[in-house]
Amino acid sequence: MPTRALTGPLLVGIGGGIAAYKVCGLVSAWAKKDAPVRAVLTASAERFITPLTLATLARHPAYTDADFWEPKWDRPLHILLGEWAGVIVLAPLTAQMLGQLAHGLADNLLTNILLASCAPVLLAPAMNTAMWEQKSVQRNLSLLLEDSRYHLLPPTSGRLACDTVGAGRMAEPEELEHYAQSLFWTQGQRDLVGKRVLVTGGGTREHLDPVRFLGNPATGRMALALAQAAFHRGAEVTVIHGPRSAPVPEYLTSYLATSAQDMARLLEVHFPPCDLLLMNAAVADVRPQSNHPQKLPKAKLPASLPLEPIPDLLAHLARHRRPGQVVVGFAAQTGDILTPAWEKLHAKGLDALFANPLDEPGSGFSGPTNQGWLLLRNGTAQEFPNAPKLAIAHGILDALKG
Ligand code: CTP
Repeated sequence: MPTRALTGPLLVGIGGGIAAYKVCGLVSAWAKKDAPVRAVLTASAERFITPLTLATLARHPAYTDADFWEPKWDRPLHILLGEWAGVIVLAPLTAQMLGQLAHGLADNLLTNILLASCAPVLLAPAMNTAMWEQKSVQRNLSLLLEDSRYHLLPPTSGRLACDTVGAGRMAEPEELEHYAQSLFWTQGQRDLVGKRVLVTGGGTREHLDPVRFLGNPATGRMALALAQAAFHRGAEVTVIHGPRSAPVPEYLTSYLATSAQDMARLLEVHFPPCDLLLMNAAVADVRPQSNHPQKLPKAKLPASLPLEPIPDLLAHLARHRRPGQVVVGFAAQTGDILTPAWEKLHAKGLDALFANPLDEPGSGFSGPTNQGWLLLRNGTAQEFPNAPKLAIAHGILDALKG
């Protein structure tokens, strides 16, 4: 049963870049969880966004360099805040701040807090593509990341505020929120460094013709939480997802599998090198015998649905795994979930299977939370009470560690 927390005292350090406005989303989301959040702005951040905005969202005054020089605290402010923070997010991380931190320098409130704290730090850089790609900037980044206290959410590509199209756009606030939650859970430990994790998610579609298919309501939200949790713990993560899946962030390698056959082909390539397979996809069990290239007229439909079985992909992979590969299945059930779940674990030859009820509130397809039982090959079962999908994902990864 997961016992660790996804929240705690979060210090958000804001640098001077246009992406500063996006950080409001993170501060607001954290405060809405009734979790403590404090914002600290550099002088250049104050040119983009006001302390009042952040103070209002955080339900607490925001700190600036003016506070740094005020003798109104019983201990130096950078020490107080450095000790207070459970996790620090630096967003947007500017080239200046990166350079200072890489070389252990501090000349303002925020950089002094960083040096006075031992908390895990999440870096969310944002800058123009040419600036981001400068050798000097990349050198500073590599240098800083040698310290395992620092974690990186790389910038994504797209059209930037300077109208350049390329890498440099800050990660979305939701991504920052999830990563910060993971850092509270793991306390910054990267126990999956060097591991390759393959996650499948979403539902497959088995087409009868170009406009009709057999499908299911899986959205890939649990798979995304599993992939994020593994990535936040240092794993190299690949995601194979169905067509209706939640968008997969750019920092994860991902492939679209529309049908079970597509998924089988992709698994053939990506399963052999992986260390851990989390087979969360809702793969269809049957498909129409024919997939007609042209749209069928409705009069022909009632006679057009003879079905054929789809081979069990997971059972096949489990049979052909190499020693050391860990294979985990997922089963969404109605009614008695444990009996069929044990049967599936044994029949498919799995190391573990997470079974979740579809007929309980707060569990099942598309919602933000889940619950269920994790069954292990050694015959033990662990109950997971209702919790955010990210907490369930971390709980599963914790349990697999043994
Ligand atoms: N699975 C698979 N290939 C299939 C069907 C299912 O690899 N053709 C995998 C799923 O990805 C999941 C596990 O098997 O990890 C259990 O899926 P589930 O649908 O619960 O079980 P089934 O074996 O399909 O049994 P049933 O539908 O009868 O409950």
